[in-house]
Amino acid sequence: MPTIYEAIRKDHDHHRTLLETLADTQGDSAKRSEAWDEFYYDVKSHAAAEEEAFYSKLMEKAHGQDDARHSVHEHQQIDDIMEELNEMDMSSPGWLTRFKTLKHEYEHHMEEEENDIFSKARDVLTDDTDGRIASEFLTRKDKERLLVDEKAAASLED
Ligand SMILES: [Fe+2]
Ligand SMILES: [Fe+2]
Repeated sequence: MPTIYEAIRKDHDHHRTLLETLADTQGDSAKRSEAWDEFYYDVKSHAAAEEEAFYSKLMEKAHGQDDARHSVHEHQQIDDIMEELNEMDMSSPGWLTRFKTLKHEYEHHMEEEENDIFSKARDVLTDDTDGRIASEFLTRKDKERLLVDEKAAASLED
């Protein structure tokens, strides 16, 4: 069983690869639209599971609250850009400009989680050598993946 840190990092590596594929493909090619769908669903379920299985625990600790709030706020900003892109024509110049902002913001977010938040979390959370938090994260992520479309529709109605 991986630890929560390994499980999150594994997802991030997958997301980094998809961001490169999206940047390297053209127009509305099949390869780009497949990469976008995978990115959209995987990042959304990853972020929701992170909040439920990881940040909720960090939020309970006095020393973790600011970091947890900061990350959840970034999740919302990233989600807003993803929803915007999802409605746009992939072959338009506007899409690429907005995508570059998303790529920049999300790469920064992942880096911050890995380099900054993980080490603080290790100080305040019980360790995850038995993979308990990771297994909760993976279970939540599977559930969240099925809810992505429903949640997106509900947030558009707000
Ligand atoms: Fe995150
Ligand atoms: Fe993450």
